Amino acid sequence: MTHLKRIWIKVQNEANVTRAVIESKSMAQKLGFEGHLSQMIATAVSELARNILKYADFGDVIIFPLQEERIGIEIIVQDHGPGIADIDQAMQDHVSSSGTLGLGLPGVKRLMDEFEITSEINVGTKVTIKKWL
Ligand SMILES: Nc1ncnc2c1ncn2[C@@H]1O[C@H](COP(=O)(O)OP(=O)(O)OP(=O)(O)O)[C@@H](O)[C@H]1O
Ligand SMILES: [Mg+2]
Repeated sequence: MTHLKRIWIKVQNEANVTRAVIESKSMAQKLGFEGHLSQMIATAVSELARNILKYADFGDVIIFPLQEERIGIEIIVQDHGPGIADIDQAMQDHVSSSGTLGLGLPGVKRLMDEFEITSEINVGTKVTIKKWL
């Protein structure tokens, strides 16, 4: 397989979210994730990038191809927004501070193989997700 390059997308508007979704799906497909698998990855990125716009105004989506012993994809979604006071609570289904479904973060965790979130009040939030082929 050819060596794929990392993609870094600054997110501060809907067009940037769309680009992050398209680029993550395209990277997943190039790595060999077929059909619904690349769509699951794109959906996860959509939820996390949308949270940037909703809660933090701007941030980054960084897409890393994993091409060592195992093939996979790693995506970091980070911002320097308000942070999350109670991560355990935010990870529960139907918990939302904005009155929407509150299925974003727990949904992303279910879609991916690995999920890590760190957040600090007034410092920001960083979510790292991975899926293995
Ligand atoms: N990047 C972020 N910065 C600050 N708070 C966040 C961030 N992402 C999520 N949160 C907090 O965690 C809660 C849960 O997030 P989640 O994405 O699961 O639900 P939601 O965005 O409220 O609803 P949905 O994604 O279903 O529209 C949010 O309501 C918000 O309070
Ligand atoms: Mg959300």
